[in-house]
Amino acid sequence: MEIIIQPDRERASDLAARLIQARLRAKPDIVLGLATGRTMERVYTKLAAMHRRDGLDFRRCRTFNLDEYVGLAASDEHSYRYYMNHHLFDRVDVDIDNTHLPDGMAQDVKAEARGYEALIEQAGGIDLQLLGIGESGHIGFNEPLSAFRSRTRDKALTPTTRRQNAPMFGNRIEDVPERALTMGVGTILDARELLVLVTGSAKAAILAKAVEGPIAALVSASALQLHANCKVVVDEDAAAELKGRDDYVWMFENEPEWAAYR
Ligand code: GLP
Repeated sequence: MEIIIQPDRERASDLAARLIQARLRAKPDIVLGLATGRTMERVYTKLAAMHRRDGLDFRRCRTFNLDEYVGLAASDEHSYRYYMNHHLFDRVDVDIDNTHLPDGMAQDVKAEARGYEALIEQAGGIDLQLLGIGESGHIGFNEPLSAFRSRTRDKALTPTTRRQNAPMFGNRIEDVPERALTMGVGTILDARELLVLVTGSAKAAILAKAVEGPIAALVSASALQLHANCKVVVDEDAAAELKGRDDYVWMFENEPEWAAYR
C-alpha cells in the first residue's frame, strides 16, 4: 500500500484523475471499477474536462460500479446509475452499453448479484478500481463485519451509513434505502489495482484505522492492506491522524514511479 498526501482535496482529486487518465491512455479498453459519493464528484468533473480539453478517449473502456441502492430505478435522481450518468457518462464518449451497475430494481437480487460477478469475469476482471471510504469504514457498501471473501450480494445498510448519505436525500434518513447491492470485499480485492481517494477531516479517524490499524472485518477498508497494488490518495485533513505521515511523504517524494505526479 502507498499513501499519497496532497495539500487539499482539489489536489488529491487532481492526482487521482491524472492516474486514471494515464491508465486509460496506456490501455484504451481498460476495465474500470467506479465509485460514487461526494468525494468522487471532483474526480469525474476532472475526467470530463480531460475528455473535452485533451480528447481523453473513453470509447473502448468498460466500467463496473461498486454498488447500487435496492429499490431505486435508474431514473431516480438518488440512484447511483443516475449519479454516474450525470457526473461522468453523459459528459464523456463512453459507450453507455459498456457501463454497468447492479440493477437496484431486479426482482431477484441474488440472481442479479451472481450475474454481476459473471459479467465482471467475462470482461476479464477489473484493471483499476476506484474507491472511497465511508465513515463506517465501508468500501462499496460492505458494512462492518462483511467477510473479506464476500462477493457481490445484497446487504442491509447500517444507521451510520444511512445517516452519512441522508444529505443526498434531503436530510431525510427515512428516505435512504435500507438495502443495497454491492461488490463484495473479495470482488474488490480481485481488481488488479486499487485507487482509494479519501478527503476531509470527517474521514481522518476511519482512514487511520483502515490503513494503520489491525486488519479486521469490523473495518472493511482494512482489507485494502491485503492488496498488492493499492494506492491511497488523501488530503491533509484526512491524513491528520496518520502516525506514519512523514514516512509516507518521503516515499512519495522519492519513488521514481511518482515523478510525474509530484
Ligand atoms: C457511499 C458509497 C461508498 C462511498 C461512500 C463515501 O456510501 N457506497 O462507495 O465510498 O459513500 O461517500 P462520500 O464520498 O460522500 O463521503
